[in-house]
Amino acid sequence: MNALVDEIIQLKEEKNAVILAHYYVPDEVQEIADYIGDSYYLSKVATTVERDVIVFCGVSFMGESAKLLNPEKTVLMPDADADCAMAHMADPKKIEQVKKEHPDAAVVCYINSTTELKTYSDVCVTSSNAEKTVRALPNETIYFIPDEHLGRYVAAKVPEKKFIFNAGYCPIHNDITRDAVLAAKEAHPNAAVLVHPECPKEIVELADYAGSTSGIIAYATESEKKEFIIGTEDGVFYELKKKNPDKTFYPVHAGQCCPGMKLVTLEKVRDALKYGIHEVHISEKMREKACRPLDRMLELAR
Ligand code: 13P
Ligand code: SF4
Repeated sequence: MNALVDEIIQLKEEKNAVILAHYYVPDEVQEIADYIGDSYYLSKVATTVERDVIVFCGVSFMGESAKLLNPEKTVLMPDADADCAMAHMADPKKIEQVKKEHPDAAVVCYINSTTELKTYSDVCVTSSNAEKTVRALPNETIYFIPDEHLGRYVAAKVPEKKFIFNAGYCPIHNDITRDAVLAAKEAHPNAAVLVHPECPKEIVELADYAGSTSGIIAYATESEKKEFIIGTEDGVFYELKKKNPDKTFYPVHAGQCCPGMKLVTLEKVRDALKYGIHEVHISEKMREKACRPLDRMLELAR
């Protein structure tokens, strides 16, 4: 393992590369990353790194967003099949139809979306800036794609705006049930419940805190509590435990695992760097349209 890590470090220098990783990728990949964080943090970092090559340890929409924001840089994905199921859960034809019916509505697109969906959107959001960004928009009507649960979470925080929802969801967060949370609370009565807003409304209502992956990590780190029930993908346990060796973290259930994120391995990071494989390519025509909502997010959420 150490020889592999040494090889990655050497290749990184040779290729003038930087490694970005999301909190959901396997522990050993998080360990070798130069930057690790939630989607918002990583998209901001992608605009400031000075290296020629970005290796993005995450799923497709993350690497694509980095490429959209840095067309001159080479962005490599360790596994070209690492994808987010929710990113595809909106239909361009339906978006066109809603735009026609509600010409004043802003299409607000969760960053967990394909590049194509971004081309139909007015602004992107992540879970950590969605409330602020939606509030800052001049539009009174918001068409929120693709995640219905995050959309409803933001709608509850910004009641002065009218929302239209789309029936997309994250299979991992959607699988966290009320019964499972209640059972975990009964098993760990002193634990605080921290969940991601991609969870259904009835789960968010049971939680002591809902927020992005970095929000969950920050809450647990600052809290005086010693035990936490975590309602998000199990990759966050690595940073939670690293920052809080004296605290105990429980998943709601044993299956909180994103298959796309778990495709990223150290061997694949090495191969991406060594052979320059799985480069993200986006046509200039697509980039021009899809970059606009991302730029607007970075401006409004600042
Ligand atoms: P964060 O932006 O909170 O890291 O969320 C990304 C994600 O994919 C959640 O499922
Ligand atoms: Fe997509 Fe869900 Fe995986 Fe996040 S956990 S990347 S929303 S499939």
